[in-house]
Amino acid sequence: MKNLSSVWHPNTQMNEWNNFDKIVKGQGMWLIDSKGNRLLDGVASMWCNVWGHSKKELINEIIKQSKKIPHSSLFNLTNEPAEQLAKKLVKISPNMNHVFYSDNGSTAMEIAFKIALQYWKNLGIKNKNKFATLENGYHGDTFGAMSVGYVPQYFSKFKDQLFSTHQIPVPNKYRIPIGYSFFEYQNFCLEKVESLFSNNEKIAAFVMESGAQLAGGVIIYPDGFQKKISKLCKKYDILLILDEIATGFGRLGSLIQYKSQDSIPDIVAYGKMLTGGYLTLGATLTTKKIYNTFLGEFNEMKHLFHGHTFTGNPIASAVANENLKLYEKTNLIKKIQDTSKIFEKRKTDFYQCDLVGDVRNKGMLMGIELVKNKKEKIPISTKTSINKIVFEMAKSNGIYLRTLGNIVMLVPPLAISSKELEFLIDRTILTIKKIHKKYDF
Ligand SMILES: Cc1ncc(COP(=O)(O)O)c(C=O)c1O
Repeated sequence: MKNLSSVWHPNTQMNEWNNFDKIVKGQGMWLIDSKGNRLLDGVASMWCNVWGHSKKELINEIIKQSKKIPHSSLFNLTNEPAEQLAKKLVKISPNMNHVFYSDNGSTAMEIAFKIALQYWKNLGIKNKNKFATLENGYHGDTFGAMSVGYVPQYFSKFKDQLFSTHQIPVPNKYRIPIGYSFFEYQNFCLEKVESLFSNNEKIAAFVMESGAQLAGGVIIYPDGFQKKISKLCKKYDILLILDEIATGFGRLGSLIQYKSQDSIPDIVAYGKMLTGGYLTLGATLTTKKIYNTFLGEFNEMKHLFHGHTFTGNPIASAVANENLKLYEKTNLIKKIQDTSKIFEKRKTDFYQCDLVGDVRNKGMLMGIELVKNKKEKIPISTKTSINKIVFEMAKSNGIYLRTLGNIVMLVPPLAISSKELEFLIDRTILTIKKIHKKYDF
């Protein structure tokens, strides 16, 4: 039977699917489909859900703000929820001073790139117009974001249209080139950064995900790596743009990841969990030093030519304000730190599966790399997508998973209980064992 849906699903080989289960309801951490099946949300509905799917306080806030005004613009006007949220974000984000709103992570990053490029122009420095990044970084699916966060297996079709960047290798402990220790390879990567910075006056900014790369394969940076890049940026007067869209607000066990990495960005982008995962909102924050360069007489044209229809949407901002209040009220970050110890404790259980080559985790994030052979580390592969195989098997075991190639991601809602996290882990292990039995990889 062919799929009758008119929806073109994201990042999906549509030919592989006859139909998609229809989610009609959310109950806590669980998604409920039209047939009444319950699935534990193992990927926080694309890494954004914080409290589960029926948090009364957030839903009430949406209703309350909708009754006042669902949307009014930040062009020439302002609104109280957006003002309040900006104050709060600036307060919790060291060194940051102003907030530019958008409506998703990709746009928050595009804004970061435009601010960085124009910053140098506003200062009268014309030739600083290139970005340096880490290989395998991901910053969204728009053209600027694809250029800077160039993951070849996703974006090679668009390569001709993307602008060039300087890419620095990232230390992935599981796949260190032969001849290096992990420590030596970290130094090699950092030396590459320094050599680039010292030999190239055109670098406007260095861009990286803060704390870890997610879409590039759950690569968690070694201690001190981000801090050292931050220091090199300062030494060579290059802006540091940090992408906290997936890794901030608790995912890696801290509210502001760049703070716990002891690094100092000039621009930082937030998204996903900012609204508890209930509405779409992006925020790009900058320092006072950067913001001030955009001030001047009108005819100097120093202001930022950027603005989306839903920039600073009052409902999204109101729900973000309530979400952040709940973080404080429930001491969520401490709860994440406690609950996520379960990941650490259960790691050995994953390694007992023949298919599991590597397990990487930090905070409420785990990546499980599936390989044909533990020694040779060759990723599992089949004719159909691994994602579909794992998804179907996981579903039959009561959990919702989406893999990245051969990497199973566990990215549950941040407030998940210990019991539910144990369930998610048990069922993931069962899923891995069952696909191993059923498929010839
Ligand atoms: C690190 C990072 N940056 C940016 C984005 C893009 O965000 P969005 O999908 O909201 O455009 C993502 C999305 O997964 C992400 O993981």
